Amino acid sequence: MTELQITPLHPTLGAEVAGIDLSRPLHEATRRELDRALAEHLALVFRDQSLTPAQYLAAASVFGPPMEQHYSQHNMPDHPLIGMIWHKNGQQPAEQWHTDHTNRERPPAATILYGVEIPSEGGGTSVASMRAAYLALPEAERRRLDGLTSFNGLDGHADTRPEDREKYGTPVEHPMVRTHPVHGSRAVYFHISKATHVSGMTSETSRAYMKELIERMIRPEIVYHHAWRKGDVLVIDDRATMHRAHGDYDRSQSRVLWRIIVEGDRPRLI
Ligand SMILES: [Fe+2]
Repeated sequence: MTELQITPLHPTLGAEVAGIDLSRPLHEATRRELDRALAEHLALVFRDQSLTPAQYLAAASVFGPPMEQHYSQHNMPDHPLIGMIWHKNGQQPAEQWHTDHTNRERPPAATILYGVEIPSEGGGTSVASMRAAYLALPEAERRRLDGLTSFNGLDGHADTRPEDREKYGTPVEHPMVRTHPVHGSRAVYFHISKATHVSGMTSETSRAYMKELIERMIRPEIVYHHAWRKGDVLVIDDRATMHRAHGDYDRSQSRVLWRIIVEGDRPRLI
């Protein structure tokens, strides 16, 4: 069995996992250990990986079954379960705090990113612990959030294909606080631009409420910032975090990340 070394990268979240080559099949006990490590640390970093698309898909499946992504025009032609994040094909860096694909009944347990081409400076990815954010709220506000749900569709990206809109555009209701299925802790859960509204609020009030929550909750103490190196694999637990990209890099340079999302449970508050 592989001997894993797990080293925290930040006091609140994030850990580097050493002693593992993701291009090789993983032992069942290692898979379980990685699943538990993700639930505990919420962001896992594997350095110096060298993966083909097929090897990457096999490694990602440790965290759940890879699922389809709704910006299908950016999917890798021969491996459509891998999305290509690359500004040179017209994408904008996702700089707003969010969690991925909340418009699914069973949204991703994890988002997995593999650094294929990395600019010389900037272009990092930040991850915030929404578990820590929840715990830091006053009790009365936690109770209020516990009772709210959000309704999630596709955000209004003009380049969404009609077939993706057809498949993935039906609104889905999720609790704004969810219990982690592995860890058992609670975390704040919503997507400001995929949520059409919060239960009992107009869309304008909902947007202002979510914006104010993000500004108040996401402080440096609960954020791990990942500075990319080529060959990094970053696994983000979407059940208890929000993340954002940083567009602070030279756009004449290339930044290519391969993204896989893996299916999780239907969010629920227990
Ligand atoms: Fe994202």
